[in-house]
Amino acid sequence: MFLTIYDKKTKKTDTINKKVLLSLKYWFTEYVKAFYSEDADFQQNIDMKVEHTRRVCREIIDIGKSLNLSPKELFLAEAIALLHDVGRFEQYAHYQTFVDYYSEDHAELGVKIIRNNGVLINFDKQISDLILRTILYHNRAELPKNETERCLFFSKLLRDADKLDILRVVTNYYQENNGKRNEALELNLPDLPGISDNIYTDLLAERIAKAKDLKTLNDFKLFQMGWIYDVNFTRTFQLIRERRYLEKIQNALPKTERVLRVYLKINTFLKRKCYDKC
Ligand SMILES: [Fe+2]
Repeated sequence: MFLTIYDKKTKKTDTINKKVLLSLKYWFTEYVKAFYSEDADFQQNIDMKVEHTRRVCREIIDIGKSLNLSPKELFLAEAIALLHDVGRFEQYAHYQTFVDYYSEDHAELGVKIIRNNGVLINFDKQISDLILRTILYHNRAELPKNETERCLFFSKLLRDADKLDILRVVTNYYQENNGKRNEALELNLPDLPGISDNIYTDLLAERIAKAKDLKTLNDFKLFQMGWIYDVNFTRTFQLIRERRYLEKIQNALPKTERVLRVYLKINTFLKRKCYDKC
């Protein structure tokens, strides 16, 4: 599917305004329609990612407003959020999974799709590069060091907004799954007692745990608590606290000394960060 948003004779857009954002939303809606299916499970997974996208758009605006971004910057932030997971649809259609490890990197796939569909073809190169790089980095363990401050800023905004919604999804799941397991949300990890040493040590040292150290579902739940160490903005910390995401994850874990110590450590970190000035 190739869609040109603007007349090629017009000047390339260097600013995202309301009209440009609406065109991108229109493209996104039309693009997703191609994945609609009669199969209820398949459709549910497509809907899930559309809803995730909508919520990440709302979260990014909320965080952006707390930082007093201008309307232009807010439109740009929303455009980035709108397109950040566009690779998810093709990924699911092709591999029937959202696990990058078993399929392909959905951020790289998203960038390819945006390019192949000419979504940003009439955008000024500076702005289209910024959008594409921000999307490319959104699921990386770490942001690259050799990037512009502007790109790193929007990447951090997107990663915070995305984390807020992922925490919402996983905590809802832990509260409501009634014993029914969702492999995509649990990475196929065994539900065994105990916490792995490396996960425990990293989290107590206020470091993000490493995905390669995950051995059990309990490890994964604590790993998700540890995402707090990778949050960038005060507003995000405040929303995590208001929504009680840490408590909800803790309630889904066994009441062991290790779990309690990690929870207290991360919760103290969270409370402290809620009063930072950024
Ligand atoms: Fe993503």
